[in-house]
Amino acid sequence: MNFHVLTLFPEMIENAINTSITGRAIESGLISLNAVNIRDFSEDKHNRVDDYPYGGGAGMVIQAEPVYKAYGYLANHIKLSKDDQSSYKKPRVIYVTPQGDVFNQNMAAELSLEEDLIFLCGHYEGIDERVLEMIVTDNISIGDYVLTGGELPAMVMIDAIARLVPGVLSNEASSEFESFKDNLLEYPQYTRPEVFMGRKVPDVLLSGHHAKIEAFRRQQAIARTYERRPDLLENSTLSEEEREYLTRLIFQKNYDVY
Ligand code: ADE
Repeated sequence: MNFHVLTLFPEMIENAINTSITGRAIESGLISLNAVNIRDFSEDKHNRVDDYPYGGGAGMVIQAEPVYKAYGYLANHIKLSKDDQSSYKKPRVIYVTPQGDVFNQNMAAELSLEEDLIFLCGHYEGIDERVLEMIVTDNISIGDYVLTGGELPAMVMIDAIARLVPGVLSNEASSEFESFKDNLLEYPQYTRPEVFMGRKVPDVLLSGHHAKIEAFRRQQAIARTYERRPDLLENSTLSEEEREYLTRLIFQKNYDVY
């Protein structure tokens, strides 16, 4: 899977994504990163890419032309890199913006199936609307707060998507049994020592009884989701027995209140 980023700060993206698990995935060729500097496509003699907003108002707006040219260069580069030009399809262009759909695990899973993804990072008061209309296919936010630019959100999304690419995580199972699988939070984990400052690891985890351990972890995941993110339970798939367990939890909690 190839990640492409249109940005004013390519080194920010490169430094982060070339590190740790994503860095190793790049070295082994499972993913690639190509950060393109929008400033390289400025026609201005001082390499400026922003200007005052028409109609007035605070801040500066990134101009359409350098963004359009950087995109054109990138799209051509992606096309030329394909062995079979006839099967080439235009990659999705994600504009990273607080005005977009809020990113989640399902979106990460869906995007991880793409061969190429282009992220467009804004700064200042945004990017001239006309070029956004021309090239953007998806508007995505990472949450209801405003950051100084799109680079951090792009990095967050690249990390979440990259780890779902087969082979990126050394233990493939670890991306399956974790928070948000089945819309449940992950069960708690323990490692040695067996007793830490008087707190003992739950006995069942030492029993070696795999079915019991599995059932215990499911219950822990359900209880934790109920406590911390009850909104997720609406879309989780629970067995009849698990539903009964959840009902008991809810009843117990309400009972405790009185
Ligand atoms: N740019 C600035 N804030 C953002 C956010 N919360 N999500 C995506 N892009 C952004």
